[in-house]
Amino acid sequence: MKVAVLGCGAIGGVVARALAAGAVPGAALAGVVHREPVDPPDLPVLDASAAIAAADLVVECAGHRALVETGPAVVAAGKDLLVVSVGALTDPALLPALERAGSGRVHLSTGAIGGLDLLRAAAAMGGLRRVRITTTKRAPALVQDWMDDAERARLVSATAPVELRRGPAREIAAAFPKSANVAAAVALAVGDWDLVEAAVVADPAAARTAHVIEAEGVAGEHRFEIRNAPSEETPTTSAVTPYAVLRAIGDLVSTGAVIR
Ligand SMILES: NC(=O)c1ccc[n+]([C@@H]2O[C@H](COP(=O)([O-])OP(=O)(O)OC[C@H]3O[C@@H](n4cnc5c(N)ncnc54)[C@H](O)[C@@H]3O)[C@@H](O)[C@H]2O)c1
Repeated sequence: MKVAVLGCGAIGGVVARALAAGAVPGAALAGVVHREPVDPPDLPVLDASAAIAAADLVVECAGHRALVETGPAVVAAGKDLLVVSVGALTDPALLPALERAGSGRVHLSTGAIGGLDLLRAAAAMGGLRRVRITTTKRAPALVQDWMDDAERARLVSATAPVELRRGPAREIAAAFPKSANVAAAVALAVGDWDLVEAAVVADPAAARTAHVIEAEGVAGEHRFEIRNAPSEETPTTSAVTPYAVLRAIGDLVSTGAVIR
């Protein structure tokens, strides 16, 4: 399987270098597409159309806008697409548009979190009553363009955890595009954007990025607590995220048994 990687930052750079080093048997790097002023010296760089032509699978690790701009062309060319910027799917038109664009398949990365398999099973059993995800990050990583000066000041000078926003997953994932992809992933897993409540908490002392997922329904009660080391390159991203992508590529290429 030839894999093109869209984005060469904290996620795409790790994925591309691992593929180039042969870390996923059966998968090879076709090239990377990026928007930095300088090309990475150690990786083959392509433009988006050459990447789509060269690849069987395009992995989007480049941001919400890149998914909107390039995702449909991938699927239209009959190539598979693995989406990491799942927060872009808060736009209700985007996933149906990707799925209808052509014969390529659309895969959604589990990204920085786990437990989505069990949440999907619980949703399939029916009667999920409550699903909540609470994300806690270092305060500076949560500053957003839409915040006014007072909110920014409150955020960066806080000496204790501050809940910044709580609301429906769609609203929170859209408000924190680099930090609440996980809220979108939970909503997509349970198949109900309106059921999932999300909250984002800034913690000046957080050495880890925490995601607590709680669900209740006829299947029982489920609680997952994830405490991820942040990426040094891009602290809004958890360092484990590229390894979730590599695991997904390995699953797609595998002919052996896979836990699903
Ligand atoms: N699903 C999850 O759990 C999860 C977790 C962390 C991050 N993310 C998302 O993954 C994406 C990448 O995160 P990151 O930490 O690697 O970001 P990053 O800022 O470290 O790197 C982004 C890369 O994308 C490139 N880029 C930007 N626009 C592009 C375009 N239009 N075409 C091609 N390349 C482009 C940049 O040049 C850069 O190389 C973000 O959207 C982020 O929100 C998802």
